[in-house]
Amino acid sequence: MRKKWDSKEERYFGIGIYKPKTEENVGSLWRTAYIYGASFIFIIDAKYKKKSTDVLKVWSKIPLFQFASIEAFLQTVPYSCKIIGIEMDKRAIPIKEFVHPERAVYLLGSENNGLTKELKNKCQELVILPGKESVNVAVAGSIAIFDRINKMEE
Ligand SMILES: C[S@@+](CC[C@H](N)C(=O)[O-])C[C@H]1O[C@@H](n2cnc3c(N)ncnc32)[C@H](O)[C@@H]1O
Repeated sequence: MRKKWDSKEERYFGIGIYKPKTEENVGSLWRTAYIYGASFIFIIDAKYKKKSTDVLKVWSKIPLFQFASIEAFLQTVPYSCKIIGIEMDKRAIPIKEFVHPERAVYLLGSENNGLTKELKNKCQELVILPGKESVNVAVAGSIAIFDRINKMEE
């Protein structure tokens, strides 16, 4: 049996939003996540209905998991997979310096209030993007994904 794998075969990521306010942001993030190689996306404490604007039928490409609560989400985080919070926080590492883990779940906050203190404490690491003001949540997720694939390209 094979015991060693190329590191490319031992990596994956998912990305999601806690309490997203608009379904448009979920749809935008879903599309980017699919195109740039995410294995899944998720939302916590929110609902999403299929959109007619989904011309790529992303629902058929990668799954969207809908967790009813933070607890439900935390119970599903896979073995050896880090939760990475994308947030403007004093403790956060600037994305330029951030080394992405092989297996990661990226967590974004709601448009209104960002990530809760509880969720930030559950993240193994927090990452901040450049800029004095916050960007749109789907844009923030797309930047994080782009940074990951750029740094992991060999
Ligand atoms: C519009 S922002 C939330 C702003 C909210 N009013 C606040 O003060 O926390 C929505 C989410 O996008 C992400 N985000 C936006 N700008 C960011 C930045 N510069 N660095 C890291 N995350 C960012 C975070 O996940 C944030 O919770």
